[in-house]
Amino acid sequence: MEFSYHNPTAIEFGKGQIKSITKYISKEQKVLVVYGGGSIKKNGVYDQVSKALEGYSWCEFSGVEPNPTVETLNKAVEIIKSEKIDFVLAVGGGSVIDGCKYLIAAALYDGDAWDFLDGSAQVTKALPLGAILTLPATGSESNSASVVSKKATNEKRFFHSPFSFPQFAVLDSSVMSTLDDRQLANGLVDAFVHTCEQYVTFPTASLVNDGYAETLLRGLVTLGNTWDDRKSEAWQENLMHIANQALNGMIGSGMPQDWATHMIGHELTAFYGLDHARSLAVVQPQLFRVMLEDKKEKIAQMGENVFGISNDNEAVIKAIEALYEKVGISTNLNDYSIDDKVIENIISALESHGMSALGEKANITLDKSEEILKMAMK
Ligand code: NZQ
Ligand code: ZN
Repeated sequence: MEFSYHNPTAIEFGKGQIKSITKYISKEQKVLVVYGGGSIKKNGVYDQVSKALEGYSWCEFSGVEPNPTVETLNKAVEIIKSEKIDFVLAVGGGSVIDGCKYLIAAALYDGDAWDFLDGSAQVTKALPLGAILTLPATGSESNSASVVSKKATNEKRFFHSPFSFPQFAVLDSSVMSTLDDRQLANGLVDAFVHTCEQYVTFPTASLVNDGYAETLLRGLVTLGNTWDDRKSEAWQENLMHIANQALNGMIGSGMPQDWATHMIGHELTAFYGLDHARSLAVVQPQLFRVMLEDKKEKIAQMGENVFGISNDNEAVIKAIEALYEKVGISTNLNDYSIDDKVIENIISALESHGMSALGEKANITLDKSEEILKMAMK
């Protein structure tokens, strides 16, 4: 095992922490507050941010949509340049935070910042960023990844950069009071799949990574089993904590990883608008079935240590499907608004994005992806 690990994001966890943002932003910095469709005006978050920023020079940009697009974000880049913004404060879920990672890099880049998404350029500098998380799911609040879409071409791509880490992230679970069941379920499933992508590969000797991944997975199964308590403080706090830990880079350090479910899922979202987590829920169980030979030891280990199931890999996969269905997420692709071109569209997009050798062994070829998608249409 060999890895470098550095996560520079300071976490401010707990009730009432929004006011702590003033520790990290100086009054000399002009701040752009970026948010989505307005949920932050209904749950008091906008008011808390405005209060904290009293005495600061700040302005705002709203309307970052779920699965943020360059078409929208480029308008914010103009504001950053014209208003000479020094600090970007993302207030929202993964979409707003990812969108802001694009903004802070695009604002200091001379070319078309889509270059970062299609891989033709690397980020070499960025403005400082802070995050106030309102939807636990992606881990974006303390990782270096950003997923951005381009409406014009139905593309959803990602980039990573050490310059993209937020300087701080506020995780106050009381802001989750306005989340509906759909978003709570999305958060649970996204965090579960993030953990699996870094765990369900082939056996390694790492007791730390496996042990911690299993702790997170067991926690998420418990949250699924106690779904009726989802409005309680403890339930929401745990989801916020687990979703953060699932993708802050730690459990994947030095481990084989398989992001194929995400790569196939991103294409489904780009074409058909499935919520991110729902795209994962239809792909992942079938991917486990198709790739069972490669993943059987880890699926068996997950069976023993997470679900209490012995010697029955199909039962483990069924338990995962049952978890998703229990929180109201269908694992059947036919339940989403797709069309008869779905296989053709997704496979050709994977091919043109260089995604024809996915998985921890780079053996999830386009044929395998096609098989997975066909099986997902139950
Ligand atoms: O826009 P507003 O009005 O805020 O409403 C949002 C949005 O409609 C709403 N919401 C957020 N917080 C709320 C709330 N509604 C009520 N109360 C609150 N407290 O929820 C809706 C969905 O928000 P969004 O940010 O899109 O969801 P999520 O956090 O699941 O982010 C999904 C995006 O993150 C990307 C996904 O691909 C997708 O684009 N991902 C980013 C990753 C990363 N950076 O590491 C990894 C993930 O695998 C993922 O790919
Ligand atoms: Zn995800």
